[in-house]
Amino acid sequence: MAASSDLSALAQLRGRDLISAADLSAEQTQGLLSLAADLKSGRRVIELGGKVLGLIFSKASTRTRVSFTVAMARLGGHTIDLNPQVSQVGRGEPVADTARVLSRYVDALAIRTFGQDELVDYAHWASIPVINALTDFEHPCQALADYLTLGEAFGSTRGLTLSYLGDGNNVAHSLMLTGALLGVHVRIGCPLGFEPNPDVLARAQQLAAAQGSSVHVLHDPVATVRGSHALYTDVWASMGQEDQKGEREHAFAGWCLNEDLISEADSRAIVLHCLPAYRGLEISAGAMEGSASRIFDQAENRLHAQQALLAALLGGV
Ligand code: CP
Ligand code: NVA
Repeated sequence: MAASSDLSALAQLRGRDLISAADLSAEQTQGLLSLAADLKSGRRVIELGGKVLGLIFSKASTRTRVSFTVAMARLGGHTIDLNPQVSQVGRGEPVADTARVLSRYVDALAIRTFGQDELVDYAHWASIPVINALTDFEHPCQALADYLTLGEAFGSTRGLTLSYLGDGNNVAHSLMLTGALLGVHVRIGCPLGFEPNPDVLARAQQLAAAQGSSVHVLHDPVATVRGSHALYTDVWASMGQEDQKGEREHAFAGWCLNEDLISEADSRAIVLHCLPAYRGLEISAGAMEGSASRIFDQAENRLHAQQALLAALLGGV
């Protein structure tokens, strides 16, 4: 059950944007996870009364698109898919105009795009909450679901170690920041040249220090996973990097999350992947389908985490 301190921290999120995982305080992050657990179990029901979420997705999506749509429906609201290809966005209408017009129609926007700058621009011009539904730089909604899943497996997250193997990308950035806020020790293991952004690393280390945890970057897969409570990976070539797929497969050789690496982790360790996955590249089929895998719980938790987020941003808490 969400503690009253968590709920008062959540009330402050009304009308706010979620551009980066670091936009949330430690209390707000914990509060969202507690609320998500309450919504998932049915201990809490929130009705938003007809609010409308607009989706502007310039990249493909299965989980994020559907989980936001279902989350709004469960809150008694609606979603409009503002596909850039069939709106004036795709013909180049400026963000400043689009954001101001849409703010007159809908109650929040979830945006999936390439540059973080574009998202920041939407948030600047919109008078309604703008949510990062994935950019090249961050994927904060994913990280909320990931730590909700970790907490379900271990009862709580503080003091656990989560090891991410692979590209220091958008998913890694948000995992580092949210993990730091929750007091999780986060290890990022990657080949040389694929490290996370140094500013995000420094910020995550600062946030982690305040919670008594740590964030480290390593370059050896076994050292990365040794003793960890969660092993996590993501694609080696993200959306927009399709032309680098071959060279990245070469660079990431030896970084497949497989049964050998799982055997180096804590005996209770869980396996996570944000999906979509390429079996035989960043994760083995055995790791994906094995008894340690919580990957499909993790996908389900996108729904519960985003329902909590929407409830908080739209004033339902
Ligand atoms: N994990 C995730 O964001 O999946 P989609 O790209 O399908 O939304
Ligand atoms: N890093 C991946 C995540 C997909 C959910 C990408 O950006 O394509």
